[in-house]
Amino acid sequence: MTRFRRLTGLGLLITALACAHSAWAGTTRITWHGHAAFEIETPRGRVLFIDPWLNNPRNPAVDKDTVAVEGVDRADYILLTHAHPDHVGDAVPLAEKTGARLITSFELGTQLGRLLGYPEDQMGYDTLMNIGGSIRVADGEVTVHMTPAVHSSGLRLPDPGPDMPSIVYGGNPAGFVVEIHNGPTIYHTGDTAYFSDMRLIGEHHRPDVALINSGGHFGMEPARAAEAAKAVRATMVVPHHYGTFPVLAPDAREFARHIEALEGVDVRVLEPGDSLTVETRAPEKEM
Ligand code: NI
Ligand code: MN
Repeated sequence: MTRFRRLTGLGLLITALACAHSAWAGTTRITWHGHAAFEIETPRGRVLFIDPWLNNPRNPAVDKDTVAVEGVDRADYILLTHAHPDHVGDAVPLAEKTGARLITSFELGTQLGRLLGYPEDQMGYDTLMNIGGSIRVADGEVTVHMTPAVHSSGLRLPDPGPDMPSIVYGGNPAGFVVEIHNGPTIYHTGDTAYFSDMRLIGEHHRPDVALINSGGHFGMEPARAAEAAKAVRATMVVPHHYGTFPVLAPDAREFARHIEALEGVDVRVLEPGDSLTVETRAPEKEM
């Protein structure tokens, strides 16, 4: 009941799955590109990518003749939760194509610029941050909060010389809360174990949508991921980080079964390439 009141109080209406790429005023579109990669288009048309490994094997945009980055027209910001290759993914070519600014930890940003060629003029004190901090971007339409994650974050070098380590420091792993003006608040867990302070993320940020890793092995097993969904008290949850590699849970069925036992939580199991939209019915307010 509380959850229902909160939803209507915000004036948000979550609509059915849609695959079209166009957006209209008052609508936030969230697209899953497979694995941990999400694209968020705000009501004002700004585009944020989180962990853009677009060339993952489950993304239908990938075929033998093209790479998925070629299909992206716009990216204003790229958010990286941590340094692992299945999360850094195609951040560098995507940044080169679109001019997207990098939102991540100071350490990972610096390493990516220095070692992997992320354009250094597309990051700075406005976007490099640390856990506990919040930044306002997109002319104030979006506030990004960096949250803790219990994981690791080594940066693998693609071609280390004989005297180089194959993995170098990549900062602390993190998650993100993306708070959109006149839109939903979206929590991306990143890769993390369950931790009881997820409850505080729920209390502090009141996420409407939680994007929760649920494939196990490198992160939360499905039952624990459902516990995380409950802890953050999101109205809607979307599982990710499953089905990509053989060691991960093959699908989200077990996760969904656990979520369905929770009252008032809407679980959306997407196919890679699917979008969901959150419509804002509240009148535009001053930012
Ligand atoms: Ni990882
Ligand atoms: Mn991962």
